[in-house]
Amino acid sequence: MKLALTSPLPIDFQKMLQPHFDSIQVGGDLSCADVLIIQLSDVFTKDRLKELKSLKCLVTYSVGVNHVDLESLKERKIPLVHTRGVLTDATADLAWTLILAASRKVKPAMRYLEAGKFLGYSPTLFLGLELRGATLGIIGMGRIGQAVADRAKGFGMQVVFHSSKGGMALAELLKTSDVVSLHCPLNEKTRHLIGENELRLMKEKAILINTARGPVVDEKALVRHLQNNPQFTAGLDVYEAEPVLAPGLLELENAVLLPHIGSATEKTRHDMARICVEEAIRFAKKEPLQYVYPT
Ligand code: DGY
Repeated sequence: MKLALTSPLPIDFQKMLQPHFDSIQVGGDLSCADVLIIQLSDVFTKDRLKELKSLKCLVTYSVGVNHVDLESLKERKIPLVHTRGVLTDATADLAWTLILAASRKVKPAMRYLEAGKFLGYSPTLFLGLELRGATLGIIGMGRIGQAVADRAKGFGMQVVFHSSKGGMALAELLKTSDVVSLHCPLNEKTRHLIGENELRLMKEKAILINTARGPVVDEKALVRHLQNNPQFTAGLDVYEAEPVLAPGLLELENAVLLPHIGSATEKTRHDMARICVEEAIRFAKKEPLQYVYPT
């Protein structure tokens, strides 16, 4: 059985995989692979999947599966393995990194200090949002949304949520929340879930956090909103057309921006890699897979 990876993994994957596969290839022509390990930036459309004639099992080094055409896999009865569960805490921590940075105006404060403008303590310098008593609105109450909500207890925030299974109506959540954090998957229902109209419903000094997927937010509309409402802040780890950012976004002081590092702790990235490798080995040994994405 032949295994291919689109890019190397951050563990000694060659050593672990070698005893179980006839060949292991990193990059290049993937068309002969029986098992293929991909990343979230590898987009596998219907046409691209058609080229993988030998494919029997697809493994993605991600929890999100929006980069893969699920219908094609279903038709060909190819299981899709993803790394669910292990990146919950790391991603929830990063959402909180952005919430704290945005609420305490860390970006403009750092720029101010680095520009040599700090002349001493001032009672009016960079007054931010007190989290205790403020309302956190979570959109998407899966594992990560829940973990973000759990952390909110420690900060004394009120939590409301909106999800496909219930909670508050979206418009009501947007109107009442001081901080809105997105944790829904990207699909046709959630693409541009937050656009111009939704941003207009939010409070003037609200904070919007996105560690889910870029296209959940209409990024151009967000840039316009941030430009016209300097009191509004966005904390983003994901973008509509990664790695390209919408024009104007980088220049904004009220946008805290990170380069898609939600799951980037050593432990989590190693755990994700281990799941990919172990599932590939289970497949080669004809053992039941443990991380198949529901189709
Ligand atoms: C995932 O795995 O889907 C995350 O976006 C990685 O950070």
